[in-house]
Amino acid sequence: MLPRLYTDLAPWWPLLSPPDAYAEDAQVVHALVEQALDRAPRSLLELGCGSGTLASHLPNTVELTLNDLSPEMVAVAADRNPTATTHCGDLRTLRLPRTFDAVLIHDALMYLGSRDDVEAALATAAAHLEPGGVLVLMPDFVEETFYPGTDAGGGEDPSGRAVRLLEWRWDRDPDDGRFEVEMALLLRDEQGSVRSVHEQHSMGLFSLEHWGQMIRAGGFTLLPVDLTQLPLEQGVGEVFVCMYGTP
Ligand SMILES: C[S@@+](CC[C@H](N)C(=O)[O-])C[C@H]1O[C@@H](n2cnc3c(N)ncnc32)[C@H](O)[C@@H]1O
Repeated sequence: MLPRLYTDLAPWWPLLSPPDAYAEDAQVVHALVEQALDRAPRSLLELGCGSGTLASHLPNTVELTLNDLSPEMVAVAADRNPTATTHCGDLRTLRLPRTFDAVLIHDALMYLGSRDDVEAALATAAAHLEPGGVLVLMPDFVEETFYPGTDAGGGEDPSGRAVRLLEWRWDRDPDDGRFEVEMALLLRDEQGSVRSVHEQHSMGLFSLEHWGQMIRAGGFTLLPVDLTQLPLEQGVGEVFVCMYGTP
C-alpha cells in the first residue's frame, strides 16, 4: 500500500517540492545519458516520477514519459510537465508498447524493498530500451553510504497553505536490508488551522556489490560515472549508469 504522502497528501507536493528542487540531479541525468549514448537523448521514461520535479528540469528537447503508481502523484507530475505523456502503474510490471533512449529511476528506487522488486524494476527498464539504451539509477543510499540523520523542508503558497516535513532516518536492524524513515508533517490550511501526520516509510538498502550483481543479471553493463566536468554545487548521491546489452 502506498504511503499517504503519495496518496491523499499528494496535493501538498507542490509546496514540499518547490520548482527548483532536483535541478542539479536533472543536469547530472542528462549529462550522463548524453555521455553514454554519445548524443543527446531524444526520449526518456521516468519510473516512479513522483511530483515530476526532476523531470521538469530536463531540456525540452527530451520527449518525456512519466510513470507513477499513485494516480494522485501522476496528476501532480502532469501539472508540472504539461507536455509529458503520463502513465499510472507499478514500475515492477509496467509494459508500454514502445522503447526510449533512456530510462530513469530516481529516489523511487528506495521503495523497492527486496531483490525481487529490484529485479522486476530492471526487467521493466530492459523492456523499454533497445540494446545500447541507457538506464540511470539514483538510490538515495546504498549500504556503504547510509547514515542515520534528519532532514527538514517545506514551503507555502500564496493562499496561506503551508507545510513542514521532518524526515528522520534510522536503521532498526542492520541485517535486514532495509531502513526506516519517520515522516512527520505539519500541514496548515488556508484558514490557519494546523494538523500533524506521522507515517513510517520502509526503504530498501543494498550493498554496491549486490547492486552490481542485480544490474548485470538484468542484462545491463555498468558504465563508469564521470561527474568531474559538471559544475555541481551540492553533488549527487550514488548514481549507476547502465547500458542495456554490451557496449
Ligand atoms: C520520493 S517520490 C519521487 C520524487 C521525484 N524524484 C520527483 O522529482 O518529485 C517517490 C515516488 O515513487 C512512487 N512509487 C513507489 N513505489 C512505486 C512503484 N512500485 N511503482 C511506481 N511508482 C512507485 C511513489 O508513488 C512516489 O510518487
